[in-house]
Amino acid sequence: MPTDDHILLARRHLAAARKLTILTGAGISADSGVPTFRGADGLWRNFRPEDLATPEAFERDPRLVWEWYNWRRELIATKQPNSAHHAVVELEQRWVDRMWLITQNVDGLHRAAGSQRLSEIHGNIWKVRCTGCGVVSENREIPLPPLPTCRLCQALLRPHIVWFGESLWEEEIHRCDEALRDCDVFLVIGTSGVVYPAAGFASVAKEAGAMVIEINLDRTPQSNLVDLSLQGRAKDLVPLLLYPA
Ligand code: OAD
Repeated sequence: MPTDDHILLARRHLAAARKLTILTGAGISADSGVPTFRGADGLWRNFRPEDLATPEAFERDPRLVWEWYNWRRELIATKQPNSAHHAVVELEQRWVDRMWLITQNVDGLHRAAGSQRLSEIHGNIWKVRCTGCGVVSENREIPLPPLPTCRLCQALLRPHIVWFGESLWEEEIHRCDEALRDCDVFLVIGTSGVVYPAAGFASVAKEAGAMVIEINLDRTPQSNLVDLSLQGRAKDLVPLLLYPA
């Protein structure tokens, strides 16, 4: 756990911030029971991303990919937002239109908690996208077989997720870039900081003059770059930031 002085320092910087940008990763949902990707029981320790999370994998075996996403959907459906997700909502309510949340998580738990001003830069597991006409829609039930197809054009539907080897959506990147260059505090919660472009966001915000605060269970490749690194569980530490400085 960080010392009280470190928590106090984080609160002071937050209190002085006119604009706040937050980045979250799998660590914030770990406290809700959603597996991370690179932790001890992380998904990428048991599955190969190239078999399940690339456009080539989907082309080769769409059924296998859909089965994997259905398995993850079933798991996530049983989980609830935790105190860290709720604290992020509280921060949004305080900063109103001066806060932006960027999440790499596809689990939808930030939305379920009530976050409204956010970019889900890796997509959302509860959305599907047509491989033909590109229409995105919410779809919570994908019974297999047969493979799901688009109501409008009958082409195959895919998860609305950014897979390895794919680029992020232009408009999301633009919005994130603006939020990173224009914030006074950039709060990075529960990400290993190894997947780009999000792994580069702390540098962008810092170079633009923001104070960067990291909350993570462990040290990360970003810990030396940030101004303040708080080690502990997101569910314990994020709510502590809500108290007055
Ligand atoms: P990772 O699994 O790579 O990292 C999770 C981070 O959370 C690690 O740094 C852990 O130390 C930290 N952590 C674990 N439990 C925590 C807790 N209770 N409180 C605070 N921190 C905790 O997940 P991401 O960084 O989110 O991409 O991974 C980035 C992307 O890689 C994901 O979005 C995913 C994956 O491939 C896609 O699905 C497109």
